[in-house]
Amino acid sequence: MSTDAPNLGDVTEPTNIVIFGATGDLTKRKLMPALIAMIDCGLLHPDSRIIGVVNKRSEQEWLELVRAGLQEFSPGVAMDEARWQSFSAMLKMVPGDLADDSTYTGLAGALETLGGRKNALFYCAIPPEWYDRTASGLHAAGLVDQAEGFRRIVIEKPFGMDLASARALNKALQRYFDESQIYRIDHYLGKESVQNLLVYRFANSILEPLWNRNYIDHIQISVAETLGVEYRARYYEQSGALRDMIQSHLMQVMTLVAMEPPVEFTDAAVRDEKMKVLRAVRRFRPEDAGCQAMAAQYAAGVIDGEQVPAYVAEPDVSPDSATETFAAVRFHIDNWRWQGVPFILWTGKRMKKRVSEIAIRFRKIPFNLFDTHAKPPVPNTLVFRLHPDEGIFMRMNAKMPGLTTDTQRMVMRAPYAEDGMDVAEAYETLLHDVLLGDATLFSRADEVEESWEIVAPLLTAWEDRFSIERYRAGSWDVPDMDELLQGCVGGWHKPH
Ligand code: BG6
Repeated sequence: MSTDAPNLGDVTEPTNIVIFGATGDLTKRKLMPALIAMIDCGLLHPDSRIIGVVNKRSEQEWLELVRAGLQEFSPGVAMDEARWQSFSAMLKMVPGDLADDSTYTGLAGALETLGGRKNALFYCAIPPEWYDRTASGLHAAGLVDQAEGFRRIVIEKPFGMDLASARALNKALQRYFDESQIYRIDHYLGKESVQNLLVYRFANSILEPLWNRNYIDHIQISVAETLGVEYRARYYEQSGALRDMIQSHLMQVMTLVAMEPPVEFTDAAVRDEKMKVLRAVRRFRPEDAGCQAMAAQYAAGVIDGEQVPAYVAEPDVSPDSATETFAAVRFHIDNWRWQGVPFILWTGKRMKKRVSEIAIRFRKIPFNLFDTHAKPPVPNTLVFRLHPDEGIFMRMNAKMPGLTTDTQRMVMRAPYAEDGMDVAEAYETLLHDVLLGDATLFSRADEVEESWEIVAPLLTAWEDRFSIERYRAGSWDVPDMDELLQGCVGGWHKPH
């Protein structure tokens, strides 16, 4: 890694950051910690204000919640009295219920009285069924007009639950906001390591000649989690792993791996290239659900020495639920670069390790010259580790020390961040980008609809499932993965 001082980014203009859902989990776990980190790095203009739209709580109660949240989720921030006083001076509460017009007019009034900052960012950290109502309320209160400053709306995932609902949501939002004002968050695109993939691909010359069907056998993109469904079963029961992770995060990462070099690094150019990848993804037929995709659910098991319950025994999960907590899909991209190279995207909760990776598996050597006593050479694998320990690893073969030419596996490592160097959290990057008006790392309406369209036959085929395969929590014992990876050199790449 270079030792050049990092460029922390541009300071944003003074902005009113309005959070709908200001007492919710996302605000507590992600948004407030990101905002305070941005202040620490000098990335949030000190004249900005953070406005929470809050129902049924006093301003004092809300402030206490924010403070407690920061203590829990920003452990690196020393929140002494002086620090809290300076941060809380930026906070302001606007009371109201999302269903009432008066909330939005009250907000408009508050923004007017606060004066000074004409820019506004509206962050919808609320359940998706409220997106439309909130957008229409903002519009009716005259808060969408950009005559005096920018007005941008941030929409969280899930963006729809299928193609029809995603289309309806796009239509609803575009009734009130121009597409250029809408920022659909996919926090995977905000991860440093995901952006680093683009830099590795397009700032180095050695990868491009190899980056195609002539050298690559297949690609695996994975997110293995050790956490279970936690407190989110009400959402997850309707969603499952295919919707929750593959349609959104993993397909977005796939587009970055597979896209052609854009003509410039702008949101339009990058998103056009990603969109071309999605258009080239081979469509599934209903019968593919059985052989191009697989689903499984965690049974009870042990993680880090602790017994954990089966998915069906988690709170709010139906005891006969067939919702998948593991999903894997084998995609094909029908274009010149990728014809014949499977992209296997997989994700699971309650796996053995928390690891997320992009593994580029190269073709086998054409002929082995070396001794056969030892194991044959392993296929070369280039791994982009998204987390933890962000970085790049290349699995190679080397000579085993001694008087033979037996080979052994060797791993070349290039950690992304040196020890002690901070890797920005995805939400810091993404909030900063919204404030700068850079939509490169956000999903455009057509991308979201296209990816729903691609997975639709799988969703339909899985809809009426009554039973599902199981895997033991804390293991890699997922049935049928070997079948899904049939023909792929080296088989399933289980992260180490
Ligand atoms: C969210 C999913 O979008 O991403 C969660 O809804 C999942 O189910 C999470 O746990 C994973 O994110 P990360 O950044 O922890 O890998």
